[in-house]
Amino acid sequence: APAPTAAEGPAAPVVIGHRGVPVEAPENTLASIDRAARLGTVWVENDVQRTKDGALIVMHDTTLDRTTDAKRRYPGRAPWKVGDFTLDEIEKLDAGSWYDSRFTGERVPTLDRYLRRVDDNHQKLLLEVKAPELYPGIERQIVAELRRSGWLDRRHIDEALVVQSFSAPSLKTLHKLRPDLKKGFLGAPKAADLPSYAAFADQINPDHTRITADWIDAAHALKGPHGRRLEVCAWTVDDEDKAVGLARMGVDGIITNAPHVIAAALDDD
Ligand code: G3P
Ligand code: CA
Repeated sequence: APAPTAAEGPAAPVVIGHRGVPVEAPENTLASIDRAARLGTVWVENDVQRTKDGALIVMHDTTLDRTTDAKRRYPGRAPWKVGDFTLDEIEKLDAGSWYDSRFTGERVPTLDRYLRRVDDNHQKLLLEVKAPELYPGIERQIVAELRRSGWLDRRHIDEALVVQSFSAPSLKTLHKLRPDLKKGFLGAPKAADLPSYAAFADQINPDHTRITADWIDAAHALKGPHGRRLEVCAWTVDDEDKAVGLARMGVDGIITNAPHVIAAALDDD
């Protein structure tokens, strides 16, 4: 898209469904991204972790108990850490009934199935490497899975995929493995420290409460590893006025639990 003129203000931010659309369907499930797709949400965010036997799955918490029936199914296995369970055990869990009985039988997706569904839905993915310190070597595995699923072709790399993490070491590892992959650092480094992040990150994605217009300008003044202006995506913004305010400040993306609501508010502005 052409650069906006001063009179037009900044381009509208991209709206990203946080864990899918968790105000409508259980987070980090295929049902959630399907619902997001039906509501017109193109970009979805997820969280990737690893099972005891080395499979990559989509789940936010590092324990299984909040978003599945793990406590009931495996009562003697507290604290139900993701990495203490095999894929076979995790695939037996119900990841929907905690949310609403309409979603009973929903499963914890493997990354493989999730990537295929994002493609089938013509969606795009902000993939978070969650708690990589618990899963040594997960970066190499994620790259291998992306390759197997056809996600390392030009179209995905250029337009449909960003990998983000709170862990700078993890992103640096990914950058060494695949310099061409777009990466996002989750956090709000001091403006003076931003150049060191721009060496490996194309996006800096902070908690929205940490953002000021000056900080956005400092990020935008820098170029990322691919020679493009650093982008800023704010999380997790469910308030429409707040989203409009951040858009006016110039954020490039808004990560939200209610992407359809926020997209409508930005359209109306
Ligand atoms: O995408 C930003 C956000 O997901 C980071 O926090 O805890 O929801 O993974 P969290
Ligand atoms: Ca996340």
